[in-house]
Amino acid sequence: MPDKQIHLAAHFPGVNNTTVWADPRSRSQIELASFVELARTAERGGFDFFFLAEGLRLREYKGRIHDLDVVGRPDNLTVLTALAAVTTHLGLAGTVNSTFNEPFDIAGRLATLDHLSGGRAAWNVVTSFDEFTGENFRRGGFLAEEDRYNRAIEFLAAVRALWDSRPEHDLLVDREAGIFAAPHAGEFRFRSPQFDISGVFDIPRPPQGHPVIVQAGDSPQGRDFAAADADVIFSRHSHIDAARTFYRDVKDRLPRFGRGENDLKIMPAVTYVLGDTDAEALVKAREVRAAQVSPQTAISRLEAVWGRDLTGHDPDGPLPAFEPEEDTLLAKGQAQFRTGRGEMARQWRELAEAKGLSSREVVIEATSRQTFVGTARTVADQMNEFVQTDGADGFVFVPHLTPGGLDDLVDQVIPLLRERGVVRTEYTGTTLREHLGLGPARTPSASSTTAEIRDAS
Ligand SMILES: Cc1cc2nc3c(=O)[nH]c(=O)nc-3n(C[C@H](O)[C@H](O)[C@H](O)COP(=O)(O)O)c2cc1C
Repeated sequence: MPDKQIHLAAHFPGVNNTTVWADPRSRSQIELASFVELARTAERGGFDFFFLAEGLRLREYKGRIHDLDVVGRPDNLTVLTALAAVTTHLGLAGTVNSTFNEPFDIAGRLATLDHLSGGRAAWNVVTSFDEFTGENFRRGGFLAEEDRYNRAIEFLAAVRALWDSRPEHDLLVDREAGIFAAPHAGEFRFRSPQFDISGVFDIPRPPQGHPVIVQAGDSPQGRDFAAADADVIFSRHSHIDAARTFYRDVKDRLPRFGRGENDLKIMPAVTYVLGDTDAEALVKAREVRAAQVSPQTAISRLEAVWGRDLTGHDPDGPLPAFEPEEDTLLAKGQAQFRTGRGEMARQWRELAEAKGLSSREVVIEATSRQTFVGTARTVADQMNEFVQTDGADGFVFVPHLTPGGLDDLVDQVIPLLRERGVVRTEYTGTTLREHLGLGPARTPSASSTTAEIRDAS
């Protein structure tokens, strides 16, 4: 069997503590020039798509903006639309939540991006995981975790129905005659427990039929949602053993939804650090990790696990001696606490004891391990092995520098993978669906314009 192709995406670091701001090479995180630079690097490397996460509220620490969070984040779909003008093949993926938006608006904005980019749009459907963000949109309370997924399922079905409401080839373009018309504007009606909408969708069917759907949840409900209805999973499982288990679990869910192995690509978030020797890369990786976990970050992570205020705790001293609060309410919807606070604290204590680590060093060790570390050759080997042994179908690279963080990967590692024939040397298709090796989107059927979901669960 020929080797699997490695699919690649570039994550522009955003509202998080990934970027090492102290590095003199770090530049603006909101200027267009930064987005353009990273996107062009990704396109030079033959990447499938560029990816923007969504953070609708800056993280706070005790009422103040967290020290390693950044100034803010421009609107995803607007940024991607700007990038459509300066790239030619790169897919453009935006995270947009289904909890605080409306299907008509999002279907229209994604269809617009797909048209303006010539079929390169993707949508990462997230439910958003905290009440903290919900406060921005308060409409009489925040949706419970289960309702958020039900809404996501119905939301995506509604958006697909809107795209399907316009027949294929309904855009009449006769440049000589100056005709740009859509004579077959379709009507839609969509009813579900959370939506009851009808009208005429005002944008012609997107060039891809349906933009590529990405999903990032990790719960059983999230995995089923992805297996049923997504094209790509953006996963948090970047360690090979956990990644293989996750890969098998999700791929095994596909037949239940009438889908095959290749219909869903699994791409974990990963990082990399290169060096002239493996040993030098390891030292650099340690420096990067230390810069990503400030003393304040360390304390806030400890507080998240221990479930209580740890003001005054010395980050350079040992872990708290007392047991964490088992607060299941707080833990809900937060994938990192699925193991439970008590269990997590026990693992952290074990780590501290085994390696003689301070609180901050434990957080560094436990939360921000680099995925690929070594020379360019070592990293190329690790990446290829990861994909060929079914840990993933590719990767979403999260660089620690903005915007030049993928330069070394593209200049030093990608050429080696190209030599092995597992990364494309040039784009053979024009749409993101083609880059990802996905079949065409479902064609609209008569029934899909008047969809109805009775029981979304
Ligand atoms: C790798 C990864 C990336 C995510 N990116 C975002 C994001 O950019 N914005 C957001 O609101 N939620 C994001 N999420 C949260 C998920 O979409 C989801 O809301 C959360 O994980 C809860 O779902 P679950 O219970 O199925 O894990 C991300 C989750 C994962 C695993």
